[in-house]
Amino acid sequence: MEPIVLVHGGAGDIPDSRVPLKLNGVKKAASIGYRVLKRGGSVVDAVEEAVKSMEDDEAFNAGYGSVLNLDGEVEMDATIMIGANLNSGGVTVVKDIAHPISLARLVMERTPHFLLAGEGANRFAKVQGVPTLPAGSLVSKYAREALEDFKKHGDNRTEIGEKGVGTVGAVAIDSKGRMAAATSTGGINGKMVGRSSDTSIIGSGTYADDNVGAVSTTGHGESIARFCLAHAIIYEMKNGSSAAVATANTLKAMTEKLKNTAGAIAISKGGDLGIDFTSKRMAWAYQIKDEIHFGIEHGQHTKEKAKN
Ligand code: GLY
Repeated sequence: MEPIVLVHGGAGDIPDSRVPLKLNGVKKAASIGYRVLKRGGSVVDAVEEAVKSMEDDEAFNAGYGSVLNLDGEVEMDATIMIGANLNSGGVTVVKDIAHPISLARLVMERTPHFLLAGEGANRFAKVQGVPTLPAGSLVSKYAREALEDFKKHGDNRTEIGEKGVGTVGAVAIDSKGRMAAATSTGGINGKMVGRSSDTSIIGSGTYADDNVGAVSTTGHGESIARFCLAHAIIYEMKNGSSAAVATANTLKAMTEKLKNTAGAIAISKGGDLGIDFTSKRMAWAYQIKDEIHFGIEHGQHTKEKAKN
């Protein structure tokens, strides 16, 4: 089977001005993840590295550039999952960490738990030698402006916010059919202090099972969590749907039921892909051989030669 790393950069009302930034970011992340697999790295390494590249990029709502809570702070959530053994790790309401996805991986690998929250997660980071950044280091100018806009006018409190950032995620399969999934977010603009998101919940934001597939979701977190969106897509694949059909049907059902939008990426155990969203846009990309495939509009599937 040809290895694939498929990434997304958030579903929502992405303004035209942000489209090029988001496409560049997802294409770069997909290439980074693909190179990890091609060099013999594991699927967990691949999804972690792909997500880290988007956590560093202020075009996305994860790591640096995350949206802000009502106190003007960045509080982040991330989860990672291995399809071979259903092992998973997560962090929620974590502050001042450059790569929450790497901390989630440490929770998976070095604790008996699946999720650490707030101060406990930050304390664990220190013990593991993960640097705590000076307070405010992850706050971007865009995020500050988006919070000011929210306080003045209110908005629909999506993870995309007024400035068009968005949750990030990656799913991967290697040549032996091993799978992993990872998702990372700053949450929703103007959220209450201490709000946790779907991204921190296994089965909502992230899921991977080598017997079925791997999924990462994005969009209105409260709806995604209530619908257990990632696992609902897995369930439909388990019942025989392709990744594309399972992703499209489940997103449609969630949006019809809860009247909020979302997006998801999925890989089935056979290596077929699901990429869909009920929002206006969602940036996504993957690399196969020396070709990058990407899109952001409904129905768009563009290909170009990879730069590496
Ligand atoms: N889906 C991410 C969030 O709502 O926080």
